[in-house]
Amino acid sequence: MDQSVAERRPEPICGMNTWMPVPARILDVREENFNTRTYTLQFVDEEIRRMYRFTPGQFNMVYVPGVGEAAISISSDPGSTETLDHTIRLVGSVTRAIQRLDTPALVGLRGPFGRGWPLSAMEGKDVVIVAGGIGLAPLRPVVYWLLHNRDLYRRVVLLYGCRTPEDRVFAEELEAWDARGKIHVLVTVDNATGSWTGPVGVVTSLLRRIKVNAERTIVLVCGPKVLNHVAAWNFLQLHVPPDRVYVSLERNMNCGFGRCGHCQYGGKFMCRDGPVFRFSEVADVFGKEEV
Ligand SMILES: Cc1cc2nc3c(=O)[nH]c(=O)nc-3n(C[C@H](O)[C@H](O)[C@H](O)COP(=O)(O)OP(=O)(O)OC[C@H]3O[C@@H](n4cnc5c(N)ncnc54)[C@H](O)[C@@H]3O)c2cc1C
Ligand code: FES
Repeated sequence: MDQSVAERRPEPICGMNTWMPVPARILDVREENFNTRTYTLQFVDEEIRRMYRFTPGQFNMVYVPGVGEAAISISSDPGSTETLDHTIRLVGSVTRAIQRLDTPALVGLRGPFGRGWPLSAMEGKDVVIVAGGIGLAPLRPVVYWLLHNRDLYRRVVLLYGCRTPEDRVFAEELEAWDARGKIHVLVTVDNATGSWTGPVGVVTSLLRRIKVNAERTIVLVCGPKVLNHVAAWNFLQLHVPPDRVYVSLERNMNCGFGRCGHCQYGGKFMCRDGPVFRFSEVADVFGKEEV
């Protein structure tokens, strides 16, 4: 894969008119858990399909005609952009409207937007990925990236936590990634239901099971606010410097490209300067509601 393509921030497909969604067809819908599905989308326009690139951690604005838009991370392989996965949890009006759609309905897409995960800074480092719940969606493209470019990185560990085993997203892939032996995957649940015999406890409790070499570790975190906060502090306590701990943050989005001010966070715009930040960039406003 051409590293330079994925590392630089790709131009939005909607070009100068960044507000205009482009039609994309739903090719497949997969149930992840009781309220989350993965939609495989394909741009109707072949030229756009050919041109589109994204870097892991970027998002699209997904538009449902007559309802509105929501920011949704791209959850598929950045090396294969003929189709794009979006893993969507039902929370409100737009996500409910999306969940009513099936193949071969059309939605609109604008993007890709935002700054993704630090693929170059990760090179030569141990990479620890920490995900909670649907927070694995924006990290799944990183896992693909690491698997395709495995020689560039040292030890890779994925720590994943969710409420129950049934809440896992990409459950089969988690097992397959671990079985391939190229990354070490550890999964924990808050409540062991069914036949679960794995670890029980919050995702940061998995830290006891791995060795962290602070000198050469880089950390990527995405999950609910509390997880982002607790995980980041745990790694700081293990002496990983705050500029090597990266978190993906969420704010309500409107334009997606730094124009409307809707997503302002301290002095930053979440859509343009994030959603991925070094912990050192956001530590002073981290965990505060409206800043
Ligand atoms: C950069 C970025 C990437 C994102 N990626 C994804 C993704 O991959 N998959 C995905 O499902 N969502 C993702 N989101 C979150 C998604 O954009 C919001 O949940 C969005 O508000 C959903 O729109 P809606 O119209 O369905 O809900 P709204 O009508 O906006 O919200 C309805 C209600 O749900 C609450 N709510 C909104 N978002 C959340 C939330 N995240 N958790 C709990 N309650 C919430 C609101 O406070 C409100 O009360 C992302 C957000 C950002 C900023
Ligand atoms: S959503 Fe408009 S500035 Fe970020």
